[in-house]
Amino acid sequence: MKKVLEIKQKKNKSKIVCLTAYSKNIAAIIDKHCDIVLVGDSLGSVLYSFSSSKKVTLNMMIEHSISVRIGVKKSLMVVDMPHNTYRNPKEALSNAKKIISKTKCDAIKLEGGKKVVQIIKTLIKNKIPVMGHLGVLPQSATNFRFKGKETKERKTILRDSKLLEEAGVFSIVLECIESSLAKEITKTINIPTIGIGASAYCDGQVLVTDDLIGLNKMKARFVKKYSNIEKQINNATLRFKKDVITGKFPTKKHSY
Ligand code: KIV
Repeated sequence: MKKVLEIKQKKNKSKIVCLTAYSKNIAAIIDKHCDIVLVGDSLGSVLYSFSSSKKVTLNMMIEHSISVRIGVKKSLMVVDMPHNTYRNPKEALSNAKKIISKTKCDAIKLEGGKKVVQIIKTLIKNKIPVMGHLGVLPQSATNFRFKGKETKERKTILRDSKLLEEAGVFSIVLECIESSLAKEITKTINIPTIGIGASAYCDGQVLVTDDLIGLNKMKARFVKKYSNIEKQINNATLRFKKDVITGKFPTKKHSY
């Protein structure tokens, strides 16, 4: 709860840094620089090449989160509840408890607005910290076009952000929404907004780490590639291959 409060208190003070992790080694590296490490259900497309995050199961989220937990020492660790695991308050509570008891994460995230308000209230009543997610909702999206162009859609997303705040979420991910709407939401609500493709007006930013380090082929306007790890892995593998073929590896130094 202390870490959750610290995130809330960052509103209007300092920007929140959030990245995804699906395993211990990446988690341990990014943990040093992040406020929040998210085990996102984006792991379905990034690691398993699923066409939709709908195919991600509770067990997959739990297994990856157990690994991530080993690497995360400092940041708030949030785990996505996958599709079809929070269709009603009872189901959501049982599955959220399962995620928390098995992974020891600090909070869970779920997608949606008005439809999930009762679910969120039930979780929070049971002392489970919840992060919201509005805008493009990959678990139910039929297309991935940015949101907030039309007035009706803008009003719905703004209304939903207020409903989620009232329900008690400690922050909201805004995915692919128009900049001025992200600005309006961020000004209106008193909890932090964390944007992905939602402009610099948000209180923080999240990206999928594999996109940021160049390990994933994802091309989207909101992704900035900060590194090319694929190239480095390629080079290392090629050098290893050459050394094996030419007999340069292993030397005495690497033998017993
Ligand atoms: O699943 C995920 O990684 C996410 C982030 C992109 C916010 O929800």
